Amino acid sequence: MSPSYLIARGSFPPPPPQTSVAIVGLGRVGLPLALAFASRGLRVTGVERDAKTRAAIAEGRMPFQEPGCEELLRAHPIELMADVSELSGDRAPDFVVITVGTPLQAHIEVDLTQLAAVAQGLSRVLRRGQTIVLRSTVAARTTEYVARLLSRETGLLPGQDFHLAFCPERMVEGGALRELDTLPQVIGADDEASRAKASTLFSAFPVDQLHTSLVGGELIKLFNNVTRYVSFALANQFALIADQFGESVHPLIAMANHGYPRDPIARPGFAAGACLRKDFGMVSENHSTTDMLVAAWRVNEYMPNFVARKLAEQAGGLHQKRVAVLGYTFKRDSDDARDSLTPKLLRYIEREVPAEVRIAEPNLEGPIALEQGGSARNWAPRDALEGADAVVIAMNHGAFADVRKLLLGPGSIVASGAWVADLWNVCDTGALFFCARPRVEAGP
Ligand SMILES: NC(=O)c1ccc[n+]([C@@H]2O[C@H](COP(=O)([O-])OP(=O)(O)OC[C@H]3O[C@@H](n4cnc5c(N)ncnc54)[C@H](O)[C@@H]3O)[C@@H](O)[C@H]2O)c1
Repeated sequence: MSPSYLIARGSFPPPPPQTSVAIVGLGRVGLPLALAFASRGLRVTGVERDAKTRAAIAEGRMPFQEPGCEELLRAHPIELMADVSELSGDRAPDFVVITVGTPLQAHIEVDLTQLAAVAQGLSRVLRRGQTIVLRSTVAARTTEYVARLLSRETGLLPGQDFHLAFCPERMVEGGALRELDTLPQVIGADDEASRAKASTLFSAFPVDQLHTSLVGGELIKLFNNVTRYVSFALANQFALIADQFGESVHPLIAMANHGYPRDPIARPGFAAGACLRKDFGMVSENHSTTDMLVAAWRVNEYMPNFVARKLAEQAGGLHQKRVAVLGYTFKRDSDDARDSLTPKLLRYIEREVPAEVRIAEPNLEGPIALEQGGSARNWAPRDALEGADAVVIAMNHGAFADVRKLLLGPGSIVASGAWVADLWNVCDTGALFFCARPRVEAGP
């Protein structure tokens, strides 16, 4: 017997054609979702405050990489507006799905600024019978906060005058469209009518649904993400401890996982990005004591320091050296640099006062916009490596497949004695740190 929370695909009729839905926030989550709904015959309005993003979409160009989306954008153009308060009169949609950003404050606390602005704007146009779906990742009870805000401003009550649901996005960047069609959709709601409305909307996708409460949905999403975050922290801790004992972690992890059928150990590396790094904070803000997520955060955040320090030790210092850093974005083959740990690595490298730091990020076009402001030249990987005294391979991008040849053996183009930090074992040496081109001792 299947559990009562599991609603098999097809149990709800799909939304009737011409059902209208507004997606608020056309970012990495909102835009693929808007296009997917549009491709299923829904009438979609995209609300995006950023003029550049709107202009790109209006021209049929994706503002970021996401496989399959540009084709959908051309085939199913969506109506665009800049502010949620324009969703009035005959432009009032049946559904409003909120997909704005929810970063972490500098303190361990979710930043609700974007969400509050949307709720304020929405309160000017909210109509009886509309369904509001929150899809951003949020701390527990944030959907209730949105409801309280809407109620205070409009006098309308959730579950009575309007419908309210929390339906998290759990896709992975680069696989957004595929996962909308394959991942079960969590439907969080605290009343039957809201649950039925949200279920109907997401029946546009051929996936099972998982029915829970508002808070249940918020927690499921957070724990999906923090589980990954902790598993990366464990792999990083393994790397740090192996290093203390003079061992390289790559072959140890391979052996630990080889033929072992339970809980494979993840690979070490920079674990951050727009989702993973911040979501621990949304859980941890509810604890006064250090919880295991804070510990995971400390391990993951320590990795850039470890890499810079250890590389400097091995290379006999980085002062006045040419340092190449391959990979700037937070994830393999992604053009998303938000919350990447590479900028932190660069800050540690800069503290050594090298002669030059060369960043190579093949997934970004043109100069790299730096976190602290300004921009840096975006080197071609080969040019960055030419004559470099030290190298960090910070990400395992597909474009780095031939880096091994440029580092090792007769084809090596780095400086004699150059050391490499290879977080992802891209060069397949099994070593986290290795000398790419050992100096040849002068003969007697
Ligand atoms: N990126 C991911 O892989 C991913 C996956 C699952 C969940 N999430 C969660 O989804 C949410 C959105 O993430 P994202 O990566 O799409 O963020 P994003 O920053 O790419 O997109 C948010 C968009 O909302 C727009 N916006 C902000 N305030 C607005 C307003 N008042 N009116 C109109 N537009 C407004 C921004 O300009 C931006 O384009 C976050 O809570 C995130 O944690 C992200």
